[in-house]
Amino acid sequence: MTPVLMLGAGRLGGALIEGWSRFGGPAPSDLLILDPSPSPAALAAGQAGAALSPGPRDFARAGVILLAVKPQVWREAAAAISPHLAPGAVIVSVAAGVRAADISSAFGGRKVARVMPTTAVAVGRGVASLYGADPEAIARARDLFGPVATVVELAEEELLHAATGVSGSAPAYFYAFVEALEAAGAAAGLPAAASRDLARATMVGAAALLDASGEDPAELRRQVTSPGGTTEAALAILMGQAGLGPLLRDAVAAAARRSEELGG
Ligand SMILES: NC(=O)c1ccc[n+]([C@@H]2O[C@H](COP(=O)([O-])OP(=O)(O)OC[C@H]3O[C@@H](n4cnc5c(N)ncnc54)[C@H](OP(=O)(O)O)[C@@H]3O)[C@@H](O)[C@H]2O)c1
Repeated sequence: MTPVLMLGAGRLGGALIEGWSRFGGPAPSDLLILDPSPSPAALAAGQAGAALSPGPRDFARAGVILLAVKPQVWREAAAAISPHLAPGAVIVSVAAGVRAADISSAFGGRKVARVMPTTAVAVGRGVASLYGADPEAIARARDLFGPVATVVELAEEELLHAATGVSGSAPAYFYAFVEALEAAGAAAGLPAAASRDLARATMVGAAALLDASGEDPAELRRQVTSPGGTTEAALAILMGQAGLGPLLRDAVAAAARRSEELGG
């Protein structure tokens, strides 16, 4: 599949480069990075052997094009390189909401896979929702994301909207939860620093336990909820009629709806 031409290497592209450098994936010497203002991670890859100013001859060598520019500029970015690409080059796009058929047609009918990743790819703990109609494009997307993410393949492109609501946008839900827990601790009288340390470490530890134990979250919840105890009192609110269930259903639906709107 190499070399990989990264079309855009900002926040998401930079996170991938960081993850690949620590957990496997393309080596810096296999990267062609086309970006007018590359991220620090892209610059570091340049120091390690990646080409930071690839030209048309390099474009023609690329086996995979990782489309990682903002959705607003993807068409002009594609138009600049498409005429120079090898006929067999495969496109892997992370551009939110941009349909595979539109990408394929902008890239002269080449094979396309779409991925909705999270930036935790930087620490080898990303999630990548993947859709592709072609086995080769799916395989190339797995080559790029498998080393740094849990890859979940979807049977229909439309499901990427819901996956965006449940995964792509969801790291922000978790951060918002930790923020709110910190603020609630301070409101309950804890010094701000103590509340921050308690909220962060507790949430990160609970996530680590969920991961390490392999248990269902419902089972772990039951294990720490004594009848008539403090946790049960709090869960009566969190899992009540206006609690997390309906709130998250609404939040995920709003994100999925917005993803559909952005896709046009
Ligand atoms: N960040 C996330 O958490 C996340 C998650 C899932 C999917 N995505 C998707 O990933 C894509 C990139 O998002 P991002 O957050 O990484 O954006 P970003 O930080 O703005 O990175 C995009 C990079 O592309 C560069 N660029 C602009 N026009 C270009 C062109 N014509 N050719 C080559 N490079 C060009 C930009 O340079 P300038 O700054 O100079 O414009 C920037 O460095 C988006 O489509 C987004 O939907 C992002």
